[in-house]
Amino acid sequence: MKETFEEIEWKLKKFGQEHLLNGYSQLEEAKQKRLLEQLKKIDYSLINSLYEGTKKSKDLSNSVIEPIQFFDKYKLNGQYKEFEAIGEKAIKEGKLAVVTMAGGQGTRLGHKGPKGTFDIGLDSHKPLFELLRDTIKEAEKKYNVIIPWFIMTSRENNDETISFFEKNKFFGYEKDKTIFFFQQGELPMIDTEGKILIGEDGLVKEAADGHGGIFESLVRNKMTDEMRRMGIEWAFIGGVDNCLAQMVDPVFLGIAIDKNVAAVGKSIIKANPQEKVGVFCKKDGKPYVIEYSEISQELAEKTDENGELVFGESHILCNLFSLDAIERMGQKPLPYHSAFKKATYIDKDGNKVEPTSPNAYKFEAFLFDAFGELDDMIVLRGKREEEFAPCKNATGVDSPETARELYKNYHNLK
Ligand code: UD1
Repeated sequence: MKETFEEIEWKLKKFGQEHLLNGYSQLEEAKQKRLLEQLKKIDYSLINSLYEGTKKSKDLSNSVIEPIQFFDKYKLNGQYKEFEAIGEKAIKEGKLAVVTMAGGQGTRLGHKGPKGTFDIGLDSHKPLFELLRDTIKEAEKKYNVIIPWFIMTSRENNDETISFFEKNKFFGYEKDKTIFFFQQGELPMIDTEGKILIGEDGLVKEAADGHGGIFESLVRNKMTDEMRRMGIEWAFIGGVDNCLAQMVDPVFLGIAIDKNVAAVGKSIIKANPQEKVGVFCKKDGKPYVIEYSEISQELAEKTDENGELVFGESHILCNLFSLDAIERMGQKPLPYHSAFKKATYIDKDGNKVEPTSPNAYKFEAFLFDAFGELDDMIVLRGKREEEFAPCKNATGVDSPETARELYKNYHNLK
């Protein structure tokens, strides 16, 4: 339905967001059009409920948090071979796709541009995208199959990501046939009064809605239809910054098929209580990941009688989902988590405000909140040195230096 300017104005008044049109008349025509498009699309009731949510405490003290049971990939004994054979068969039959979440920028790395274009400093100078591509390529050769690659970008980095792939001839993929790009969603940022912010460009200030929007984005952008058309039944979903991610692991896939679960999460042993990783657990009886930003010191440090961390199964953002589960999860949004951030904005009188401390809420859904919604999932523990070389910070822990070392050791490079 076409909404008129007056109807938009009325809607904004109804939701107490009429300030959003204050600068409208000063904008050039193209921006006026864009602003109206943004204002039409916003779900104002959702924004109100997200704002109400920011006032409620999110602590876990009212929930029962317990350790989760897991399988250890290297203690499966005879079953290792069984799962491997089941997984290999499915891979060879073309039932597995890889999805990479690459909506983030390399800000923490000090890199300008999509994180996937970051060069971690190997002699080959291959960027993260190419290192991931190499892993898929090797599997394609081993199993004599094409493994389609779905890459989630954001509004901020979509064009740059696609031109990067164009420049690299899509690393051997056939565009629109075996490699697909789709954009994640965005949500407006709001101030502490629940008012939506206008950015310096005169438009609504929007921010990526987190990787939890991936299911909805896969469905909305018809990527799940593509998967169905290709006979895909399972998708590995991972981040862009772990250059050792084992995206095509037959044991991982085989255990999912054999146990008939909707998802499998890969874990590794947490290096120390302070490591910045989420941990798998059970919350009120359902699988859950407590983010490193949300875990209490007491839970993080809790050890068992052998001195091992009770909550020590690290979530490394390497998860496998059945296509059925993805489609189901894509029908309704996951809960949003709020983060309080610094955001430059234009106030209602048209003045630019550059805050020196956090002033605005950004809303993000986390993919792993899907785990509790699924019928069943399992956790499979792998080995850190085979699975996890994240590149997140410019220096120190999880930096190009540490990722490079781990990558070289795994691949026997000097
Ligand atoms: C993430 C996990 C954490 C896990 C750790 C392992 C979350 C919230 N937490 O933490 O549980 O232990 O990795 O390394 O993910 N991304 C998007 N769109 C978004 C946000 C993120 O595509 O809107 C992508 C990023 O490009 C990246 C990945 O998701 O590939 C992880 O995001 P990041 O914000 O870096 O999460 P971490 O804090 O590292």
